[in-house]
Amino acid sequence: IDIKSLRGATNGVVTIDPGYKNTGSCTSAITFLDGEKGILRYRGYAIEELAEKADFLEVAYLLIFGELPTQEQLDKFHADIKSHSIVDDDVRKIVDAFPKSAHPMGVLASLTSALTAFNPSSVNVNSEEDMYKAIVRIMGKFPVLVAWTLRKKHGLPLDYGDKNLGYVQNVLKMMFKQPNEDYVLDPVVVDALDKLLILHADHEQNCSTSTVRIVGSSHAGLFASLSSGISALWGPLHGGANQAVLEMLEAIKEDGGDTKKYMAKAKDKDDPFRLMGFGHRVYKNFDPRARIIKKSADEVLGNLGIEDPILDIAKGLEKEALEDSYFVDRKLYPNVDFYSGIIYRAMGIPTDMFTVMFALGRLPGWIAQWREMRLNNEPIGRPRQIYIGETLRPFKTINQR
Ligand code: ACO
Repeated sequence: IDIKSLRGATNGVVTIDPGYKNTGSCTSAITFLDGEKGILRYRGYAIEELAEKADFLEVAYLLIFGELPTQEQLDKFHADIKSHSIVDDDVRKIVDAFPKSAHPMGVLASLTSALTAFNPSSVNVNSEEDMYKAIVRIMGKFPVLVAWTLRKKHGLPLDYGDKNLGYVQNVLKMMFKQPNEDYVLDPVVVDALDKLLILHADHEQNCSTSTVRIVGSSHAGLFASLSSGISALWGPLHGGANQAVLEMLEAIKEDGGDTKKYMAKAKDKDDPFRLMGFGHRVYKNFDPRARIIKKSADEVLGNLGIEDPILDIAKGLEKEALEDSYFVDRKLYPNVDFYSGIIYRAMGIPTDMFTVMFALGRLPGWIAQWREMRLNNEPIGRPRQIYIGETLRPFKTINQR
């Protein structure tokens, strides 16, 4: 469909589709998803192959620019990103101003929004060159903000890591390096984080991505659009699910580990409890990302020698759900976030930072979608409604009410 041919078709029938379950908002050439068959592809490449053979920065390039980069293109992209990784010194003051108890997603959304104020030129995007500049800036600064969000939480001095490292390697170093310590990277952890970020890198028109596109459609700048996407991702029905999964598993453990009790709660329609990490709006047979990441979880825990009762509870829930007609009939299977939290926990990442890690992975997807929306010159997003309120009423003075 040529999106431009649909322009002007604004009058006439209005469809009501709460949650936009069957309403397309755009055409896109970025991510292909078949929920029935459990297929996920970025720019035509199978997610399984990308997770195995590519690294996160290559996938970021692929998503944003449409093709896998040559070595030369990748080197240039990485060099440009690195040359824009320093954040304004006043941003440190903002980081300092947050209470230690601040939720990391609130901190990340605010810092990302603040970048707009510190880089006013990034708002005006009039050419592909302007876009490129905004893209490498945010790709450079965002991991710093992510790492600083964690360091703030742990009361550690803010640090830029080591520019000679790879993108993902440096994220780990920036997050975990202790003062006066030679931080040694664990290749298993690097590989697992690389995979997790790749698996989260895009997922077509989900809640946060649609938010980025709709905010960007008003020609708000990239950083402001991303900040809105971060807020959308925060919710427990979306990116916040990985935090919610771990909190649920912890609660079950504290309550004696009785998984059956929680299965019953999840099925009880009078109980608002849902089995977090199960079900997906689009995947109705299995989540292909969950398969890949489940393997990764086993590897990381095995390699780090971690025996975690939480993992046993997770495995118990998964087994019971797969055999339970309530879950089978509704096609509720573990989604990617059922396992990602377990890996992040093994890496030493605090539970309330999980969604921040998701945001780090989703960054190139949001950027790619924003770029596509701007290049397509899409109109401002503005859904319709069916008004069901009062008809015209005479005004009542305060004494008449
Ligand atoms: N536990 C128990 N029951 C569930 C669950 C669950 N996790 N998920 C869905 N159901 C039930 C619903 O109660 C409903 O039952 P009914 O038909 O008897 O009324 C049926 O399954 C369909 O559920 P919907 O809410 O209509 O499905 P929808 O596609 O709108 O929601 C969602 C998908 C939000 C992911 C939902 O499955 C859910 O809340 N899951 C838990 C949260 C979660 O894991 N979110 C992460 C999503 S992945 C991501 O964002 C990366």
